Amino acid sequence: MPIQFDPIQQCFHLRNQTMSYIIGIEKEAYLTHRYWGEKLPTYHGSNALQMVDRGFATNPFPEERTFSLNALPLETSTQGNGDHRVANYQIRNSKNHTVTNFLYDSYQIKKGKEAIPGLPSLRATTDDAETLEIVLKDTIQQLEMRLIYTLFENYPMITRRVVYTNNGSQTVALENAGSMLLDLSDCEFDFLTLDGSHTNEANLNRQKIRPGIQKIESTRGTSSPQHQPFLALVEPTTSEFQGSVYAFHFVYSGNFIAQVELEQYGTTRVQMGIHPDHFEWQLAPNTHFYTPEVVLNYSNAGFNGLSQTFHQVYQQHLIAPTWQKEARPILLNTWEGNYFDLSEEKLIAQAKKAASLGIELFVLDDGWFGKRNHDDSSLGDWFVNQEKLPHGIEGLAKEVHRLGMKFGLWFEPEMVSKQSDLFKAHPDWALQVPNYPLTEGRRQLVLDLSQPAVQDYLIAVLGDHLATGQIDYIKWDMNRHLTEVGNLFFNTPQQKEISHRYVLGLYRILETLTTQYPHCLFENCSSGGGRFDPGMMYYMPQTWTSDNSDALCRSVIQYGYSYLYPPIMMGAHVSSAPNHQVGRLTPLETRGWMAMSGNFGYELDFETLSPEELAEVQQQIAFYQKHRQLFQFGQFYRLQAPDAYFASAWLFTNEEEAIAIYFNGLSRPAMPTKYLKMRYLDPAATYLDLATNEAFSGAELNQAGVLIPRVKRDFHTQVFHWKKQ
Ligand code: GLA
Repeated sequence: MPIQFDPIQQCFHLRNQTMSYIIGIEKEAYLTHRYWGEKLPTYHGSNALQMVDRGFATNPFPEERTFSLNALPLETSTQGNGDHRVANYQIRNSKNHTVTNFLYDSYQIKKGKEAIPGLPSLRATTDDAETLEIVLKDTIQQLEMRLIYTLFENYPMITRRVVYTNNGSQTVALENAGSMLLDLSDCEFDFLTLDGSHTNEANLNRQKIRPGIQKIESTRGTSSPQHQPFLALVEPTTSEFQGSVYAFHFVYSGNFIAQVELEQYGTTRVQMGIHPDHFEWQLAPNTHFYTPEVVLNYSNAGFNGLSQTFHQVYQQHLIAPTWQKEARPILLNTWEGNYFDLSEEKLIAQAKKAASLGIELFVLDDGWFGKRNHDDSSLGDWFVNQEKLPHGIEGLAKEVHRLGMKFGLWFEPEMVSKQSDLFKAHPDWALQVPNYPLTEGRRQLVLDLSQPAVQDYLIAVLGDHLATGQIDYIKWDMNRHLTEVGNLFFNTPQQKEISHRYVLGLYRILETLTTQYPHCLFENCSSGGGRFDPGMMYYMPQTWTSDNSDALCRSVIQYGYSYLYPPIMMGAHVSSAPNHQVGRLTPLETRGWMAMSGNFGYELDFETLSPEELAEVQQQIAFYQKHRQLFQFGQFYRLQAPDAYFASAWLFTNEEEAIAIYFNGLSRPAMPTKYLKMRYLDPAATYLDLATNEAFSGAELNQAGVLIPRVKRDFHTQVFHWKKQ
């Protein structure tokens, strides 16, 4: 049994082959965090709690001055009765009081893992996981808090979430509904996050934690390109290759908070949840509030170890089962090659060219609908522009299918342009606060997905397009953040529920469409990686990683995202040179390797390429097709983080072959001698270098490495390709 209750120690031990997580019960009332890390065969409480009479301490048992909630390592905060650290929940009653007193009540251990009503979460069968539910009760107000832990059998990973229940007779306001809190009895950590902006996502930031609170957050309505809903606590000596990491990733696509508090006695408190700003939930009698879940991932094998777990679990337990083993097509996206300048004739010519080169999926991006010739109109009017496409989407799709490719279409369903029929018909469907102007972003407004009528409308509109049977792929875009978060429908207290209800509405739409059309491949996009989070990946198995398609920038962005997501989840396209975002000229070869390091595609007008370049494209496509299993389903390891000259390296490996890619970045003077160590090949196997026909043991390639030759060129790529023998 992976989860056990020890009645003598009064603790729960969640243990699998690699990891232990231990929760204690103190005084039959309070849950303490006792241990998280490498698997412990047994636990007898050697790390006893520190019980000291401390200044300013308050004591739930007056005669026991050494027992204070403020100094215990807890599994959930208390509120208003002695734990003065940052709390992860707050409940306000009709008298405006926020004090609660949740005490341990009971527990249950169940096989498997339950889905969360209305929310995405990791999927598991009764063979994969076991779940512990611990019930805490506030008997004064008849409130209940259910802490839910699921331990995965084969991974050093648990998920945590909370269900808040009102068993009383009066509605209470949930002002903060955190998903997870734990106090680690250590303070020697670095705080690791992935931060950035539009076209510059997922930059790694690592800083030593300092006394007080460090946090990342989003109050923009989506998880945002500014911060991935992720943080990790990292031991100071941890690197890509060794050391301990405690990582937390939020399975949610809206406002979030992820924070760490280094407190006075050297404990590090971590918590994650929906952002309490702009949030409140009316918890009526006999109702529940389900929080999104947090994935907790422990690695004692550095960041690569951490990523291996994330990659495998997300591919096998997060995305929809249909896509877990399904190879992804090589696509051509029309955006950077055409922008809004579309015509049937031109698109068919491009499709023919694409098919002749080996492209497998032709994606018609923005500009095909309404009067959309610029980004200032027509969002919401999801009917074809007959002037551009006289035979409609169906006509074009049929032609693309006839050419042997799949057909994909772009939508930005959550938006409405002021210049649109939809806005004229339903001005009250946009998010709005009475008397205040509607703030536009990219000349568009946000539809209020908290309203069931809006959800139903979007399900019907997209469903109608999908019902034609001509659409194999949808790119689901979302290009601005939320403002004037309010509507004309909900009552006053519920106005603060809208941010969360928006996300729930979005999830309902996605759940309905992806269930009805499980074989339509959905690609998640929010101006690239603006909403690249595990919540969206539950519905859509791949994301357009960034609107920045420059190979050099992508080496940093994809490197950062690879901490959490495998390459198959990261859309990466070869675009034209000079690059449209940064103006850089990089070799087609380098652009090819960078795109193959993700979910491979193109985004340019092939008509603009020379015959030599087209031949190279054809070779790239053929190469990727031949080695697709390796790129999409192999293991991915980072070998070198981007340095001052943007040189970086990574490795793909599976049972048959291995490819190491070294991106030279900028050419440098006095280039140091560089041996790239593979580190993760099978040491006992022999690897045949396909360029030189030389054979090496995996051990040699791992330990001695390969020489990186001196090449006097910017953005050069050095690739090593071995066949495993
Ligand atoms: C966003 C997407 C792009 C493209 C445009 C179209 O920026 O990220 O890939 O689809 O919208 O307007």
